[in-house]
Amino acid sequence: MNDRVRSKSKVLQLNSIRTSGQSLSPKRCTLYLTMTCNLNCKMCFQKSQRAFKPELSLDKIIKIFNNLKLDSIFLVGGEIFTRKDILEILNYFDEQGLKISFITNATLIDDITIQFLRQMKNLETIYVSLDGIEKINDDIRGKKSYEKAVNFIKNSNLKDKIHVNTVLMESNTSHINEFIQELVNIEVKHITLQYQMAYTKEHFDGSIMEIEKNRFSNRFRNDCVLKSFKPEYITMLDKLKRFSNIEIEMFPAVFKNDVNSYIECNLSKKTEIFCRDITDGVLKINHKGEVMLCEAMHNTYGSLLEQSLIEIWNSEKMKTDRKILYENNLFSLCNRCCSIEKV
Ligand SMILES: C[S@@+](CC[C@H](N)C(=O)[O-])C[C@H]1O[C@@H](n2cnc3c(N)ncnc32)[C@H](O)[C@@H]1O
Ligand code: SF4
Ligand code: SF4
Repeated sequence: MNDRVRSKSKVLQLNSIRTSGQSLSPKRCTLYLTMTCNLNCKMCFQKSQRAFKPELSLDKIIKIFNNLKLDSIFLVGGEIFTRKDILEILNYFDEQGLKISFITNATLIDDITIQFLRQMKNLETIYVSLDGIEKINDDIRGKKSYEKAVNFIKNSNLKDKIHVNTVLMESNTSHINEFIQELVNIEVKHITLQYQMAYTKEHFDGSIMEIEKNRFSNRFRNDCVLKSFKPEYITMLDKLKRFSNIEIEMFPAVFKNDVNSYIECNLSKKTEIFCRDITDGVLKINHKGEVMLCEAMHNTYGSLLEQSLIEIWNSEKMKTDRKILYENNLFSLCNRCCSIEKV
């Protein structure tokens, strides 16, 4: 699809959601394989979900996905490599011919797993999370997490597929230059610098949306909020583009020239925004097989173990919530989410 056709279909999809809440059939899926994790990173927005059980067994995954017609899948956790059956799951999706990406802290990937990943036919991207030079990363993500992830990057022979994902925080931004130089040295080709999703109570006060009250209480509440995150950081980050052979993406791009809206958490008051995931019709499935509209919310719309996707996807409940969101220029918490875009 060329850019014009793509943006035209995006406008059509936006209009459809605004007027009726109706969405096209999904082609992409984000699947939460587990909410368990072996680390306890300081900024992690999933802390209140950590005890969520059970996980979908491989049989249940097969039951769900044999009935879906998708092009690609993004596997996420928790930490997907805490699952004992992760290679069987990856193998199943590979055999289905789906383009596969996943995100990992890369601290649990052993040699057998590396061999397996190397022979996958449809593996597209491995997002490896690292948050700074060793000292800073390990302070945020835990002891030895830097060494393990970097060893994976260096030894896996999968460099073309690896993207490093870094969350910008008060504690790592001032050393980001040094960190990026280290990534250049180990031949990382892509880095995403993602703004931290962090909120305080006042960001929600005054919210009129009932569905927003059903958010995960801690997911976006985090006290390592950016007390001194400054616009200068972003100007500085722009200069990092001087490194050759490395692609640095700031995510979401809406804040690139307007970092004050990020700091003040008020973009939706100034301009029309939309959720890329909802507009693109990304199917989000939680660790129990239930369809979600947004993973920041408790709301689910039906289990794919009990109902078909057609019954759930454009059900009155799902259409109504999409419409409410777009009529209100999204939730207040969307103001710092990595999925927002400007209209
Ligand atoms: C929740 S983790 C799950 C996958 C895996 N455990 C990992 O760390 O890569 C997915 C991504 O979200 C990022 N993340 C965690 N807390 C965040 C926050 N408050 N704001 C933005 N991104 C965050 C992590 O750094 C990671 O890159
Ligand atoms: S490794 Fe990922 S899921 Fe686990 S605590 Fe860290 S950011 Fe959260
Ligand atoms: S932009 Fe809003 S609705 Fe979309 S994923 Fe983010 S928090 Fe959820």
